[in-house]
Amino acid sequence: MKILILGSGGREHAFAWKIAQSPLCTALFIAPGNAGTSQVAQNVAIEATDFDRLADFIAANEIELVVVGPEAPLVAGFTDFMRQHPTLNHVRVVGPDKAGAALEGSKDFAKQFMMRHGIPTAAYRSFDSSNLEEGIAYLATLQAPYVLKADGLAAGKGVLIINDLAEAQAALREMIAEAKFGAASATVVVEQFLRGIELSVFVLTDGKDYCLLPAAKDYKRIGEGDTGLNTGGMGAVSPVPFANEEFLKKVEERIVKPTLAGLQKEGIDYVGFIFIGLMNVGGEPYVIEYNVRMGDPETEVVIPRIKTDLLTLLDAASRRRLAQAAFEIDSRTAVTVMLVSGGYPEAFEKGKPISGLDRIGEVTAFHAGTKQQGETVVTAGGRVIALTALADSMQEALQRSYRAAETITYEGKYYRRDIGRDLMA
Ligand code: AMP
Ligand code: GLY
Repeated sequence: MKILILGSGGREHAFAWKIAQSPLCTALFIAPGNAGTSQVAQNVAIEATDFDRLADFIAANEIELVVVGPEAPLVAGFTDFMRQHPTLNHVRVVGPDKAGAALEGSKDFAKQFMMRHGIPTAAYRSFDSSNLEEGIAYLATLQAPYVLKADGLAAGKGVLIINDLAEAQAALREMIAEAKFGAASATVVVEQFLRGIELSVFVLTDGKDYCLLPAAKDYKRIGEGDTGLNTGGMGAVSPVPFANEEFLKKVEERIVKPTLAGLQKEGIDYVGFIFIGLMNVGGEPYVIEYNVRMGDPETEVVIPRIKTDLLTLLDAASRRRLAQAAFEIDSRTAVTVMLVSGGYPEAFEKGKPISGLDRIGEVTAFHAGTKQQGETVVTAGGRVIALTALADSMQEALQRSYRAAETITYEGKYYRRDIGRDLMA
C-alpha cells in the first residue's frame, strides 16, 4: 500500500515510524515531514494545507491512503476535497470531513453537540456581538475562576482562565468587540470552571465501530510544577495511573459511545481519530474539549504502546471494517520528554546543530522541529525532539528518557525535569 502522511511534527514522525514497520507498506511519503521522518519515509516539500499540489502528488504517486496529522487541513476541508475530487475520490483518507472537524474547529458547535447528546461537560453559554452585554452580566452571576474560550482555532491560545471578575469582563469585551483572537473570538464560550485532574483519551473510529487507544496525560506548561506559559506540550505519559478500569469504563459509556452515536445521528461520516480532553472531577469524567486528530506529544506515547500493526488498523478504519480488526495494547509504560528551543514558547532561534542522536540506545527520538542541513540535523522549531522510552515502570522509563535528554545537545536546549512526577506515589 502507498501511503501519504500530512504534517511535520513529532506526532507525524511517530505515525511514520510505526507505519513503516508494517509489511503492508510498500511506499511511505510525508508532506512536508522533518529530518526524523526522512529516516523512515520520503519527505515531500508540500505544505499540509496546499490541497491542489497534494492532489497532484497523490495522483502522480498513486497514493491509496492519506493519514492526516494536524487539524488545519481537516478544518479547511481536505477530506471533503478528496471525496469530491473528480479523479481521486477513491483515495481513502483517515481524518474527518469539515462537518466532523467542527468538533475541534468550533467550541460552540462542540458544546451544542455535547448538550444535544447528553455528554457530560461544563455548563456554558455562548456570546457574540449581538449579546455581549448579556455575557458581561452572565459573568457576574458565576464564581471565579472564569473560563473564556474563543470559538474558533486560535493556535492553542484561545482559552483564558481569569480569577478577577472585572478582568474577565474586560477580556470578554476584547475578544468579541476588539477581535483579540481575530475571527476566532467573534463568538466566545463562557463555561463553568471544572476542578480536577486532566487526561486525554483517544479513539480511532470508522464512523460506526471504534478502538479505544491508550489514555495519556500531557504536560502543557513550560515550567516545572505546571508553571509559566502554555506550550504545545512538554512531555506525556501513558497509561495514566489514576485512570483505572472503572473510570475508563465511565468514559467509554458516557462519552465515547454517545459521541459516536451523536455523529451518526447527525449524519456526520467520521473516519479518523477523536482526541477527548477530559477532566476527572472526583472520579467522574467531563469533556473539556474534542480534537479531531491525535495529540502531540501524546501520540509519541500512545503509538509505541499499540502492539497491533497500525497500518492494518488505519486501513480497516478507512474501509469501515474496524469491527474486524484485531487490536492489542502493550501493558508497559511509555513516557516522552520534549526537548525545546531556549526561549520557547516565546521567541527562539533556529538552526542550532544537534548532536548525540546516535547515542541514545533504545530510546526513540521522534523529531518535532528539525531539519537536515547537509550531514547535520539542526533545530527548526520551538519543540525539537520528543524522547520516548517504554519500560515496565514509569520510573524506569523516565530514567531512560532523561538519560537521552542529557546525551542530546544543542545550543539553548531546555526540557522539564518533572514529567510524570505528579503521578508517582
Ligand atoms: P483547551 O484549549 O480547550 O484544551 O483548554 C486549555 C486548557 O484550559 C485545558 O487544557 C484546561 O487545562 C483548561 N480548561 C479548559 N476548560 C476548562 C474548564 N471548564 N475548567 C477548568 N479548566 C479548563
Ligand atoms: N498536546 C495537546 C494537543 O495536541 O493538543
